[in-house]
Amino acid sequence: MHRVIEKVQAMTQVQVLPHPDLCPQGAAFEARQGRTLLDALLDQGIAVEHACEKVCACATCHVHLRAGAEHVKPADDEEEDQLGAAWGLDAQSRLACCVRLGGAPLVVELPRHTRNHARER
Ligand code: FES
Repeated sequence: MHRVIEKVQAMTQVQVLPHPDLCPQGAAFEARQGRTLLDALLDQGIAVEHACEKVCACATCHVHLRAGAEHVKPADDEEEDQLGAAWGLDAQSRLACCVRLGGAPLVVELPRHTRNHARER
């Protein structure tokens, strides 16, 4: 008899607040725990910039975690250094490529501008 091994993927709820360009209606979806927040957003077609290709070296993937931040691993020194260059920095700022989804739901706000756009102005 065949034995079926079922691998259950733990999922996390992610809510994205409306952003005029990237996500005008806002979004709510489930993403696999352990995935980065940036990859989860890109999977949903939310085109967050990632100029350094997700290696914590550009700050263009800057987001604000409006809820749930206390349940993800805090920023390390490397992320903190990069965040210093982010546009619209606040106490809830994180780099989406550095945030790994845990079990708690997240509410994400995308900044109006990215570091790249801010430089152009
Ligand atoms: S993609 Fe460059 S810091 Fe996240």
